[in-house]
Amino acid sequence: MSGPTASTASVLVTGGAGYIGSHAVKALRQQGAQVVVYDNLSAGHRPAVAGVPLVEGDVHDGARLRATLREHQVNAVMHFAAWLSVGDSVKDPAGYYRNNVFGTLSLLDAMVAEQVEHLVFSSTAAVFGNPEETPISETHSTRPINAYGETKLAVERALPHYARAYGLRSVALRYFNAAGADPDGELGEDHAPEQHLIPRAIDAALGRDTFQVFGDDYETPDGTCLRDYIHVTDLASAHLLALDALRAGAGSTQYNLGNGRPTSVRDVLEAVERVTGRRVPLTMGPRRAGDPAVLYASSARIARELGWTPRFESLDVIVETAWRWREAHPQGYGEKRTY
Ligand code: UFG
Repeated sequence: MSGPTASTASVLVTGGAGYIGSHAVKALRQQGAQVVVYDNLSAGHRPAVAGVPLVEGDVHDGARLRATLREHQVNAVMHFAAWLSVGDSVKDPAGYYRNNVFGTLSLLDAMVAEQVEHLVFSSTAAVFGNPEETPISETHSTRPINAYGETKLAVERALPHYARAYGLRSVALRYFNAAGADPDGELGEDHAPEQHLIPRAIDAALGRDTFQVFGDDYETPDGTCLRDYIHVTDLASAHLLALDALRAGAGSTQYNLGNGRPTSVRDVLEAVERVTGRRVPLTMGPRRAGDPAVLYASSARIARELGWTPRFESLDVIVETAWRWREAHPQGYGEKRTY
């Protein structure tokens, strides 16, 4: 394909001002890549991409996307812009299909029109539904149990067709539980409302919020759900490897991304208490609808094929980076009222 050379070309990062996207932007820039962030700032934060070219735009705006791809000589896209709450997706499937499926089709149209042929797509463990066997490998059946997982799977299933018909090759990365924060302390997790376990437990330890365990009657060793927490910087490094593979000619595929270590809610609460030196006051609550008992990954394939190795595997390190950022940023990025 003729077009911008690697030295003048940029990587477009949709949702680059969000939690995982901003960590990927930082990793790309550390690698020397030129980056342009495309974010409507509905959930992203301008300070998370300070000093990075930012186009404030929506993925539904095809003309804006095409203009951005052209103006910044984009030759690859990392697509993070999406809604991410399992619970909300059950109440508002229409919104999730519109945003996550329709929004992605709009991006793919723009990429095809501008002949941008490499895509790294944010997918999720939610594509698997209730696991039939663990650890979950890429060959595990995909039967989502909520609209969020369905929307991500719908895109995953479309992508190989785009490769065959238009030459648009992609890697879908299925994240398990993204957690932690930039080890340099520049970036962190700032969702409104915050629904994830680790930041909620940290807020409780800091006396900023109450905390409830969603069920302790699961068939697991301590009765609470088992998950697979993976450091957000390790997720970011996987995106760089996926892009390198696409540039080297790899075909469209999917990889699971976790640490492969089943970790219970109680394990996380103990880690938070160890790291912070504070107690997490808690109440026991009922199960949360839609929570599978056990979800953990085999990441053997991405390790073998792309050489991915996590640097921040330890649960205490994951919690410690999250804790440092949250303690230093009680209001998150602190700019919520400006838009
Ligand atoms: N939990 C609590 N109390 C809380 C918050 C969470 O007990 O206040 C428990 C949950 O029940 C669950 C575990 O902590 O057992 C982790 O919950 P999170 O909300 O942090 O994360 P999930 O495992 O629900 O979500 C993750 C990803 C989603 C993905 C989903 C698949 O964030 O993108 O796994 O089920 F869709």
